[in-house]
Amino acid sequence: MTSPPEAHDRLDARAIAEALAAGSDGVAVRHLATVDSTNAEMARWVAAGAGPWSVVVADSQTAGRGRRGRAWSSPPVGNLYMSVLSPGVATPADWPRLPILAGVAAAEAVTAGGATVGLKWPNDLQGPSGDKLGGILVEATAAGPPRAIMGLGLNVNAGPDQLGAGATSLRRETGSRWDRALLMGRLLGALGRWWAVFQAQGFGPVARAWEERALWLGAPVRVIGEGGRQEGRMLGIDEWGRLRLATTDGEQRLAAGDVSLRTAD
Ligand code: BTN
Repeated sequence: MTSPPEAHDRLDARAIAEALAAGSDGVAVRHLATVDSTNAEMARWVAAGAGPWSVVVADSQTAGRGRRGRAWSSPPVGNLYMSVLSPGVATPADWPRLPILAGVAAAEAVTAGGATVGLKWPNDLQGPSGDKLGGILVEATAAGPPRAIMGLGLNVNAGPDQLGAGATSLRRETGSRWDRALLMGRLLGALGRWWAVFQAQGFGPVARAWEERALWLGAPVRVIGEGGRQEGRMLGIDEWGRLRLATTDGEQRLAAGDVSLRTAD
């Protein structure tokens, strides 16, 4: 006998509106059961006139996009697949900064819900198990002055048998199911606050907040990127969102790559 599908937490227009009621004025949400990619849907909405702080959220994606051309597995198992349109124009210097800003906001929201999370440069959220909880993909709008589509994928209620290799979920890390609408409300609230800090004070406070939650600060790391492999001690990030690495050739600043902890070898 097959067991019935698991009931998910409520993620519908009413639950979302209730979760947003506190402090998310002006947010317009489009909730879909399934979509190719919430980032792609947001791009279409922008072409049709989406306003600042528009949000697309879906229960599943058929063509979820990850960083560096990878796919983002997006089954309907109670996870969060969400894209948020920046309220203002993004300049070229903002592109590497916004995944950092969104990561800080996501970490804050997840922590407020009782989980422990570490930020892995440039855009990953990692659970205490060492597996990946979520990631961020920021893309530019095509039409008009460039605004940022900040896409966030977070494994929330996926059970252990619904996760791919190297992936974890909030449920697996904490042992309980999460209310996605509440989490979404917290995330949008945090995103709004950090966006305001960024506009008023620049990237410095965002970078410091990221470093407070960063994995492997001060530790030996390896970074594999397009330019090959670099090793050094992780110093933090700079004002452009680049990774600062103390290497035997002095300090290097890297704009892209996959970081891992360097164990004795
Ligand atoms: C990564 O590679 O770590 C980034 C993954 C980003 C996935 C999210 S899910 C919501 C949004 N829509 C997409 O197609 N991708 C992002």
